[in-house]
Amino acid sequence: MHPEPMDELDRELETLQHKPMSDGSDDELLTDVGFMFDDRMEKVTCEFKYGRVSVLLSYVEDNPGFVQSGHYVWPAAPALCEYMEANFASLPRGHVVELGAGCGLAGLVFAQLDPSSQIIFTDHDPGVLKTIEHNVKMQSHREQAKCYTQSLRWGSVGAKEIEAIEQLQTNGKSRMTNLIVGTDVIYAREIVRMLFWTIDRLLANDGQFLMCSSFCYDEETEAEIDAMCTKYNLKRKIISCALPKGTRIQLFTRN
Ligand SMILES: C[S@@+](CC[C@H](N)C(=O)[O-])C[C@H]1O[C@@H](n2cnc3c(N)ncnc32)[C@H](O)[C@@H]1O
Repeated sequence: MHPEPMDELDRELETLQHKPMSDGSDDELLTDVGFMFDDRMEKVTCEFKYGRVSVLLSYVEDNPGFVQSGHYVWPAAPALCEYMEANFASLPRGHVVELGAGCGLAGLVFAQLDPSSQIIFTDHDPGVLKTIEHNVKMQSHREQAKCYTQSLRWGSVGAKEIEAIEQLQTNGKSRMTNLIVGTDVIYAREIVRMLFWTIDRLLANDGQFLMCSSFCYDEETEAEIDAMCTKYNLKRKIISCALPKGTRIQLFTRN
């Protein structure tokens, strides 16, 4: 598979997030994204229970405020977990990917709901991927699906990372993800285009993308989501909406 050329937005993000170090070292300096280092903050471990599912989760127990950090548990995550537990029979199984997974609550809940699935937790923050690995180990006393972590940046900058996901899923076959979950993953209109580029690359023909959010988007962001649905031939369905105080769950499927 040949990655598409980077568009301008992706280039901007690439420059912002992965500026090479000036001494020529191979290491990448993650600039302007201080939240990526929140893994130094003190974490608590709490139990999240949904029916027969019980997940022990380490995370930073605080109000995340406006910083897009995955080291906290955002309100959309427990809301989607409740939905998945109550509606498990209607959810697809098999290859599951969590996007912008943060501490991985939604993926860990699905891992217990269906131990025969494979869960790939993804995020662009190396710190949260470490936390997820720790959180996966914390459930080892319970039956759960096979879990993997994979760095993934949304948009075409993440094309190589998607190839790694495809290798983990089916030795390189594309668009094999049966279920994609994302909680509080849209925080700006600009991110929508990159997020849906990634969804289109991963989602199987009969797959589902379940997205839960805990804050209202402005009109431009809503319009951008609709535009991406048109571009990628996706159907958008609002499953439940209790915004502005609660959460909104949406389902995206291919037309
Ligand atoms: C608001 S947090 C939500 C975390 C978690 N899903 C939850 O609900 O608790 C957004 C997450 O998306 C990740 N993220 C933001 N922009 C991203 C991008 N361009 N590519 C990949 N991950 C991204 C962040 O690192 C963070 O973990």
